Amino acid sequence: MQEYYDRRAREYEAVYHRDDPIRQRELAEMETAIQKVMRGKRVLEVACGTGYWTERAVKTAEHITAIDAAPETLEIARAKKLPPDRVDFRLGDAYLLDGTGTFDAGLAMFWFSHVPKARIEEFLRGFHAACEKGSTVFMAENMLQEGVGGDLIRKPGIEDTFKRRTLEDGSVHEVLKNYYDRSELEALLSPFATDLRVEMGRCFYRVRYTTTIR
Ligand SMILES: C[S@@+](CC[C@H](N)C(=O)[O-])C[C@H]1O[C@@H](n2cnc3c(N)ncnc32)[C@H](O)[C@@H]1O
Repeated sequence: MQEYYDRRAREYEAVYHRDDPIRQRELAEMETAIQKVMRGKRVLEVACGTGYWTERAVKTAEHITAIDAAPETLEIARAKKLPPDRVDFRLGDAYLLDGTGTFDAGLAMFWFSHVPKARIEEFLRGFHAACEKGSTVFMAENMLQEGVGGDLIRKPGIEDTFKRRTLEDGSVHEVLKNYYDRSELEALLSPFATDLRVEMGRCFYRVRYTTTIR
């Protein structure tokens, strides 16, 4: 997965510029929602990638520590020259967040689908523990759409699903990508959350909640 993202970094943000008015509208709504909930917060962003959402969230957040495991995506993120006193891009692992800092908000954009089902609880516990109890969390992800982003691959005896992606250099990668409906998201997140809000769009879903566990 890491090699895939290193290679994909330079072409990744193309996904945000597809000529589809519904997609663009949902992205704009997402940006507005993030800026609203992250206002004045000290944010821990996991799997920040090229910093596309960091750049948008920092318009209202007080500070963002944005981590990603791929050096090349971080290089692109750092090249955005976001205010250094308010954004700290760091190499790190979304499963090893202990001691990252002091946060009252968590942001995870287009990351949750890549968490193997067997590691969801581990990820959520670590993510929430890295923030203060009562932190605001915002996450967003793709909806499963027929014909978009390649066919969904199911493998016998494996609970995760995958997508096959071809990069501009012709390399083909099978990427773990899990999709959820509203009731699955509610079941997964409600043990850790108060005021959980799940919004399902056509292209994307987004969730927002307050953490209960530290
Ligand atoms: C789909 S991209 C999302 C990037 C960005 N959040 C966005 O929405 O544009 C997933 C990101 O997860 C990163 N990643 C993969 N495994 C990771 C891990 N264990 N810890 C932190 N980041 C990881 C990849 O390098 C990649 O940048």
